[in-house]
Amino acid sequence: MNPPWYERLKKSIAKNKRDAHNRYFQLATTATDGTPRVRMVVFRGFVEDGLSLSIITDARSQKISELASCTRVEISWYFTHTREQYRLRCVSKIYTASDASLDSAVQREKMWSALSEAARAQFFWNTPGVPEGTGNAPTVTSSPPDTFVVIVFEPHSVDHLVLAKQQTRTRSAFGDTGWTEEALNP
Ligand SMILES: Cc1cc2nc3c(=O)[nH]c(=O)nc-3n(C[C@H](O)[C@H](O)[C@H](O)COP(=O)(O)O)c2cc1C
Repeated sequence: MNPPWYERLKKSIAKNKRDAHNRYFQLATTATDGTPRVRMVVFRGFVEDGLSLSIITDARSQKISELASCTRVEISWYFTHTREQYRLRCVSKIYTASDASLDSAVQREKMWSALSEAARAQFFWNTPGVPEGTGNAPTVTSSPPDTFVVIVFEPHSVDHLVLAKQQTRTRSAFGDTGWTEEALNP
């Protein structure tokens, strides 16, 4: 059985679908010097038969080296129509081209095939985040390039704040006995 927070989050996604910006969430990582980094990313769906959330990114982006040294992240997701915030603490797993597992190949192929031409093109651009005019671009291929990476976030703690009508706040945590949750003062 799925934990209640997961069912609530799926409902929030469905109820807020009308506005494209509700597909974006903030992803916070820790840089190698211990300072925080945060950026917006697009939610690409839940992993099949699981509670984990997936995104796609460029293997050359800063978040990849940050996640290599600290796999723990926090996601902050605000739904503007229903006025709800979810903060999910997660452990991340990166699926890269150099990962020989079948799981990695399947995840990357599935995500790549669902992308528009415009979205795919970005993975053949020059190295992101370096001075303009420097860096290099990978050779264009029809298969997912090495720059194309899928990241999956497995939640272990979820803080759900509802601002609409009567405010409520619920904290869910995964422990030895599975998922438990408690109501908090908002
Ligand atoms: C609305 C919006 C959606 C974005 N979606 C993604 C995304 O899905 N994946 C991604 O890697 N970057 C996405 N970005 C760009 C990131 O916010 C960020 O600038 C980029 O990933 C580089 O971050 P990094 O160098 O910290 O890794 C998006 C930016 C905006 C404004």
